Amino acid sequence: MGQDAFMEPFNDTLGVFQCKLYLLLFGACSGLKVTVPSHTVHGIRGQALYLPVHYGFHTPASDIQIIWLFERPHTMPKYLLGSVNKSVVPDLEYQHKFTMMPPNASLLINPLQFPDEGNYIVKVNIQGNGTLSASQKIQVTVDDPVTKPVVQIHPPSGAVEYVGNMTLMCQVEGGTRLAYQWLKHGRPIHTSSTYFFSPQNNTLHIAPVTKEDIGNYSCLAKNPVSEMESDIIMPIIYYGPYGLQVNSDKGLKVGEVFTVDLGEAILFDCSADSYPPNTYSWIRRTDNTTYIIKHGPRLEVASEKVAQKTTDYVCCAYNNITGRQDETRFTVIITSVGLEKLAQKGKSLSPLASITGISLFLIVSMCLTFLWKKYQPYKVLKQKLEGRPETEYRKAQTFSGHEDALDDFGVYEFVAFPDASGVSRVGFPSG
Ligand SMILES: *[C@@H]1O[C@H](CO)[C@@H](O)[C@H](O)[C@H]1NC(C)=O
Ligand SMILES: *[C@@H]1O[C@H](CO)[C@@H](O)[C@H](O)[C@H]1NC(C)=O
Ligand SMILES: *[C@@H]1O[C@H](CO)[C@@H](O)[C@H](O)[C@H]1NC(C)=O
Ligand SMILES: *[C@@H]1O[C@H](CO)[C@@H](O)[C@H](O)[C@H]1NC(C)=O
Ligand SMILES: *[C@@H]1O[C@H](CO)[C@@H](O)[C@H](O)[C@H]1NC(C)=O
Ligand SMILES: *[C@@H]1O[C@H](CO)[C@@H](O)[C@H](O)[C@H]1NC(C)=O
Ligand SMILES: *[C@@H]1O[C@H](CO)[C@@H](O)[C@H](O)[C@H]1NC(C)=O
Ligand SMILES: *[C@@H]1O[C@H](CO)[C@@H](O)[C@H](O)[C@H]1NC(C)=O
Repeated sequence: MGQDAFMEPFNDTLGVFQCKLYLLLFGACSGLKVTVPSHTVHGIRGQALYLPVHYGFHTPASDIQIIWLFERPHTMPKYLLGSVNKSVVPDLEYQHKFTMMPPNASLLINPLQFPDEGNYIVKVNIQGNGTLSASQKIQVTVDDPVTKPVVQIHPPSGAVEYVGNMTLMCQVEGGTRLAYQWLKHGRPIHTSSTYFFSPQNNTLHIAPVTKEDIGNYSCLAKNPVSEMESDIIMPIIYYGPYGLQVNSDKGLKVGEVFTVDLGEAILFDCSADSYPPNTYSWIRRTDNTTYIIKHGPRLEVASEKVAQKTTDYVCCAYNNITGRQDETRFTVIITSVGLEKLAQKGKSLSPLASITGISLFLIVSMCLTFLWKKYQPYKVLKQKLEGRPETEYRKAQTFSGHEDALDDFGVYEFVAFPDASGVSRVGFPSG
């Protein structure tokens, strides 16, 4: 292996050019250049650390000398080892720790220990037509790798939103020079009006907790040589009830009014968002008396058992941890002739419905003709028709069961009447 294999002599025109450029910039050209890939190297305690060094020159050389020194702040530099040509002269005190294979100037430290942290200086001297010298400094840090963090949460039993606070503590067994970061759904958390960090960031304090704080939290601990993330932790936050609503499996719903056919059983479902799940109770109001008729999220009303044609119900959702509750009232109207059946008849065009439909169509047509004649510019009428509120059309769809209420204008009107009167007759319950 020739000397040129591990050196980069500037014996080409580019090297000379580089030297001239160097001369121009720095006012001196030693003809010897020593480079290191990085001026800071982070090492792991107990492992080997390699400090790579490259050098090159463009003069004939008889002797190549390499010297390694070590310095720590406020101490004298120490000689570690040196070489001339291929022979190494170590400091006997450190000879088992430092290795160099000249003319390769790179240094191997094995094993690396905490006292080895500091600055390593490499100096290269070339003896030829005069003496050329160049040196570099490498800062070495020594760390223990981070072990997997463990997050402790306080209080572990959970906290009630807007009342309780929560503290997440990140604990790491091993590792030096630790920096902590908190992640929610994998993204860093920043200080906010409810998030507070300890000076080292290893503790996250949430005061007060809210429903929005529910999520997947983790702690990321890192140092120059490693990083580890904790398992995901999900704080328990009690909240609700929110968004209470009642739905039914059948029957028509308009606002708080459900319309059911006589003889049909209808199942009501009460739901609200909360943690822990709410306890539900159902209350029936007759005249001025109320009574709890059932506990649980579902209520079945068999319409033949309902004495009255119109009954008010209340569904009450209660969260026994937050102590909050919410209730919603609704009215059930039992009709002797189901609206749905009428709508279906209209659809299948039974003779009665057809006749009524045709009659209505004729009436509407006559009205339209009259209007058209009265307000000649056709556009005015068109605008009027098109200007109908969209909600009205949607209602029409609900009642008639048709996809497009515009296609079935007559039927829509026909079906809409009984319900509109029903709603106005009953009215909405107060509160
Ligand atoms: C120095 O030796 C190391 C192996 O010990 C090698 O990886 C490196 O490339 C060598 N450097 C030069 C300039 O030859
Ligand atoms: C180093 O090597 C050169 C030529 O390769 C030789 O002239 C010189 O004497 C050597 N120096 C030492 C100290 O061995
Ligand atoms: C040595 O350097 C001087 C000036 O720096 C130069 O004049 C001379 O030619 C050089 N000799 C060799 C052998 O390169
Ligand atoms: C939650 O923290 C706030 C502010 O840090 C404090 O005023 C309040 O007393 C704490 N509440 C509880 C239940 O610890
Ligand atoms: C704590 O984290 C914040 C960013 O969330 C960062 O700006 C700060 O430097 C960190 N403090 C420490 C001691 O790591
Ligand atoms: C939170 O973690 C659980 C399991 O650990 C996962 O099922 C869920 O999708 C995660 N949620 C988000 C928003 O990342
Ligand atoms: C709270 O309600 C849940 C059901 O949602 C029940 O299991 C639990 O025992 C109740 N706790 C108290 C203290 O009443
Ligand atoms: C219901 O109570 C109100 C006063 O709270 C009273 O005026 C009304 O007569 C009562 N109605 C019946 C049917 O008892």
